[in-house]
Amino acid sequence: MAKIFICDDEIEILTYLDKLLRASSHQVETFSRGADLLARLESGEIPGCDVILQDVRMPDLDGLRILKQLRKLYPGVPVVIMTAHGGIDDAVHAIKLGAYDYITKPFPKEKLLGMLERLLDHSRLAAENRQLREELHRGSGSSNAIIFRSAAFREVYDLTLQVAESDANILVMGESGTGKELIASALHHNSPRRGKPFVSLNCAALSDTLLESQLFGHVRGAFTGAVINQKGLLEEADGGTLFLDEIGDVSPAIQAKLLRVTQEKDFIVLGSTRTRKVDVRFVAATNKDLMSEVQAGRFREDLYYRLNVISITLPPLRERREDIEPLARHFLDISTRRMRKEVRDIDGAALQVLLQYDWPGNVRELENVIERAVILARGTTLTAALLPLGTRREPAAAAGSGTLIALDEVERRHIVSVLKETDFNKSRSAEILGISRKTLDRKISEFKLGGNRTP
Ligand SMILES: Nc1ncnc2c1ncn2[C@@H]1O[C@H](COP(=O)(O)OP(=O)(O)OP(=O)(O)O)[C@@H](O)[C@H]1O
Ligand SMILES: [Mg+2]
Repeated sequence: MAKIFICDDEIEILTYLDKLLRASSHQVETFSRGADLLARLESGEIPGCDVILQDVRMPDLDGLRILKQLRKLYPGVPVVIMTAHGGIDDAVHAIKLGAYDYITKPFPKEKLLGMLERLLDHSRLAAENRQLREELHRGSGSSNAIIFRSAAFREVYDLTLQVAESDANILVMGESGTGKELIASALHHNSPRRGKPFVSLNCAALSDTLLESQLFGHVRGAFTGAVINQKGLLEEADGGTLFLDEIGDVSPAIQAKLLRVTQEKDFIVLGSTRTRKVDVRFVAATNKDLMSEVQAGRFREDLYYRLNVISITLPPLRERREDIEPLARHFLDISTRRMRKEVRDIDGAALQVLLQYDWPGNVRELENVIERAVILARGTTLTAALLPLGTRREPAAAAGSGTLIALDEVERRHIVSVLKETDFNKSRSAEILGISRKTLDRKISEFKLGGNRTP
């Protein structure tokens, strides 16, 4: 028996679930508004409930925003998201935000009850494993592993280890998603500064004022809204490494201030008069061609040479295709573990798709594609149907939804691939798909897969 909170704006669903779950001797509380659920959780003792069932589309508060809040405030309480038919984008998004699983409406009651049972088993285990996992995370762990097989990346990696030892400032260049931040962190963790902080700041995400106060800190009253003394990241990183991401987007005013820190190794906290000494190594990253920014007069030449004592350039993934397979297997491993799934293999066709794709978003895109496939996979093999990639870029774009496709289409492709695999043996296919023979027949006629053997 568990205590379950359900949040959905459709009263019929609430009533149905309330009855169903009570009949299975669970304790239930229902909420028709996201705000009510949050208020109830705030008022109660923590955690107050074992599971939250939450609709993803609600009029009062965006369901994904509620989910974010829940994960932040009550990380120990698993959330199952309910999506409408075809809401696969929402589901994928929700799982990335930390939802335990999703269920598509309308769902048969066995499916929901089965999922809850597994979840409650897991929660018990999870409580026991939590400590173990935290230790795993803190260790130098596999999440920071740098995976490659290509000679091109081997060269980059060797250079990284070699220059990590020195105290020189380093500029990491490369297209978006090529691993710049990973390399920056490797530079720090292989340097004599490894025992001190690695602090990372995304310069493009902040306004000038915010960026300045983040970097240098401020004293109370330095500007409107500065109600407390705030330590800057330069000071936080003292003795360690400060990673300045997207350095190409920094304004001339901040560039001037950064130049001073890199030269004098001191700075002034906003609103104060005292200068402060810091010992920081700078690693900067950009996906712009910084030299041409200099030539165009948008980036200071003196700062460029200060930051770029040594540069490391990461090749795009399409220029080192040997890395695709080991990276894919690495991300498969991480995702299956995190989502407690058992997708162990990538089949030949899927591998071909991965190898032929152009990867404009580089390693990050590959990571997302694999993660998404694992979320959607229902078997133990990652198949091509789970990969929304054309072999070239055009087909995916033509589908009109970027990298995401409709649930119907995923289902259709999956059914087709199982039918082919079993040589159109419908009983076996139904068994593999986990649906009844009757349901399969219905799907076959719905998707017009019947009659000929080349759907
Ligand atoms: N060689 C690699 N081995 C394992 N993981 C990698 C590798 N390269 C990149 N990744 C992973 O891919 C993702 C993107 O990498 P990272 O954030 O370092 O890229 P980036 O170049 O900083 O991207 P952006 O320009 O978008 O900020 C991260 O999750 C990172 O861990
Ligand atoms: Mg980055």
